[in-house]
Amino acid sequence: MIDTHAHIDFKEYNKDREEVIKRFFNNGGEKMINVGCDLQSSKRSYKLAKNNENIFASAGIHPHDADSVNKNSLKIIEEIAMHYKTIAIGEIGLDFFKGTTSREKQIEAFRLQIELADNHNMPVIIHCRDAHNDLIDILKEYKTSNWKGVIHCFTASWEIAKEYINLGFYIGFTGIITYYKDEFNNKPEIFKVINNIPLDRILIETDCPYLSPIPKRGKRNEPLYVKHVAEKIAHIKKISFEEVKNITSKNAKKLFGI
Ligand code: NI
Repeated sequence: MIDTHAHIDFKEYNKDREEVIKRFFNNGGEKMINVGCDLQSSKRSYKLAKNNENIFASAGIHPHDADSVNKNSLKIIEEIAMHYKTIAIGEIGLDFFKGTTSREKQIEAFRLQIELADNHNMPVIIHCRDAHNDLIDILKEYKTSNWKGVIHCFTASWEIAKEYINLGFYIGFTGIITYYKDEFNNKPEIFKVINNIPLDRILIETDCPYLSPIPKRGKRNEPLYVKHVAEKIAHIKKISFEEVKNITSKNAKKLFGI
């Protein structure tokens, strides 16, 4: 299993980080991507990656912190990105739900970081909330270049998923998909997305310490619990857990070159 979106550098793991890492790698975990969301966490991600063979890092500034994107901070992100264990730019994107930063500033910060990724031919890890139409419009402008990436923690409709897939993106699913039940006729839209999406476009992720999947919901999340996301996908697509595990690992290796 590859957890393609973890934040084990966060303070929630200060007391037992090494045990959390061990639990993952001793129980079927193959590789993990620790995702930066500001300068400090991008630095910490790289440090974790440097010290652990099967942990990789991304560097980027989250839309919540778009105000901090400027020449100097971008230069630092670029420096971290140039290290051998940094394999993506992210998480970057648009979040019009919380709106801690103006939309204009978020869009500017997103464009600057897309261009950074493009210049270095690196994949992007994208966070998007309540802003898919704007985000898709921006991505389409860059379609001629050959960058690639993942739409992390996807919860939108199949129509939107199709747009991303056509642009060449992978779709990342977190524990949120386990919150929906399927014993009713009225199936949630996310099940339609998972049913329809080609296997070769799926990635699994935890976004830990947040979004613990059932049966761990309400507790701190950790990379090992990515197995519950894979199990849910297997259940919805009526295929085996092994198949989901194998194909998502293959996808992650291909996209991130790990
Ligand atoms: Ni995240």
